[in-house]
Amino acid sequence: MLINHEHTPLVDALEEYSNIKAVRLHVPGHGGGPGLPKAMRRSNLPGWDVTELAGLDDLHNPTGVIAAAQQSAAELYGARCTFFLVNGTTVGLQALIAATCSKDRALVLPRNVHRSVLGGLVISGASPVFIEPAIVPGFDFAAGFSPDKLDAALRQSSGAGAVLAVHPCYYGVVGDLGGLSEVCRRHGVPLLVDEAHGTHLRLHPALPADALSLGADAVVQSVHKTGGALTQASWLHLGGKRVERQRVADALRLLQTSSPSYILMASLDAARKQLAFKGQAVLDDLLTLAVDAASRINQIPGLAVLSKEYLGGPGAVHYDPTRLVISVRKLGIGGYAAARRLAAVHGIYVEMSDAYNLVAVLSLGTSRADVMALVGAMAEISRSVGAGHAADRNCNGLSPAGPPLPPQVMTPRRAWLAKQKKVNIEESRGLVGAEIIAVYPPGIAIIYPGEEITTEVIEYLLQVRKMGVHIQGAADATIKTIRVVDI
Ligand SMILES: Cc1ncc(COP(=O)(O)O)c(C=O)c1O
Repeated sequence: MLINHEHTPLVDALEEYSNIKAVRLHVPGHGGGPGLPKAMRRSNLPGWDVTELAGLDDLHNPTGVIAAAQQSAAELYGARCTFFLVNGTTVGLQALIAATCSKDRALVLPRNVHRSVLGGLVISGASPVFIEPAIVPGFDFAAGFSPDKLDAALRQSSGAGAVLAVHPCYYGVVGDLGGLSEVCRRHGVPLLVDEAHGTHLRLHPALPADALSLGADAVVQSVHKTGGALTQASWLHLGGKRVERQRVADALRLLQTSSPSYILMASLDAARKQLAFKGQAVLDDLLTLAVDAASRINQIPGLAVLSKEYLGGPGAVHYDPTRLVISVRKLGIGGYAAARRLAAVHGIYVEMSDAYNLVAVLSLGTSRADVMALVGAMAEISRSVGAGHAADRNCNGLSPAGPPLPPQVMTPRRAWLAKQKKVNIEESRGLVGAEIIAVYPPGIAIIYPGEEITTEVIEYLLQVRKMGVHIQGAADATIKTIRVVDI
């Protein structure tokens, strides 16, 4: 076979995307440059691509400049200490689970956790104790969970190693995290928080309160998503003393590369400075812009933007308006088709789409022109489908909450290590699942490794398949087959 070493398919694709001058309403929040701190917008960045030279410290044992940069981030967030991460929030969550949970100490968590959590469960060997999150009506995605449900879960599962909460969820909604923190304190269990989407929360009083100020013991934030750092750059803050600093440092040493990128670490240091000096002012502007955009989009036939009136109950108490969640349900075309049209016709790229909604992220790199382009494009899409005549054609009749939680037969670690095989979905009843299958919305796992595949799970997945709803996590995206444990 002749291999063409002239071609650079990835480089070419990136060049093409950066040349089309797309409207970027997705992460990373620097928007392709304008939201990057000044220190990172330099032409000789390759000169910063170095290793642990004299005077440049060592991420795995910091005592010099990295330690000082981490200390400044800790001060901005009111943390006991902060660790820089070069493999995103993914590695932070995995390290926290490895540091707090084990075969005998379960992890209590909501069903809408990010897939990186599976890595933490596999490494630690812990059993998951799942809590069903609240569903936001009209938009049908999963948000937070109630302190009462957490209390009940902790009473039933003695010896939990930690509780994990997501704050805010992917769609920007937060539950009563202060209430969860209080329950954790009563039970003496550490509260870990996935704040991947909330680096900016602490910097503006109109946004939901951040996890550390609500009493979280450990928090991981994707600074690259909404904090102005480069992709993969995250940080992990420790709050109270219930999570042992040394164990977290050890877990990070186990899981992170021995050659951390100085460019990524520098982007965290520069992002912290930018957030400290400009964060509130930028968020002031973004919030004004977001409110204006929401009111304009709400006037377009067939569209609705998430707002406080859709929230209620302890699982959904507040939301982040800088994340425009637009329901296109009444347009009758579904979120995927709307996102495709936004990109193809208008050059606008949003963060995500699901069966009913679009999610556009407004962040440090977003301009008024970007947001107004979105408003205009949404109006065009509404006109083009003749909204108002297409009532809920896309309403697929799926239960927003998904099927009942299946029984857990073995830990995710055992399922992961076991021999596995592929079977037809229709023939999987009673077998043990070996993969995650998540449906958006609601954004919860329908089946998790180690769980029994029940009749209800199969029926739900068959309906998902029939409706053409996208799924995440499965090896076979068509869901004709599923990976199971080969016992
Ligand atoms: C809720 C949530 N948690 C964790 C992550 C993982 O974050 P990272 O991409 O920084 O590894 C994501 C990524 O999208 C996420 O949405």
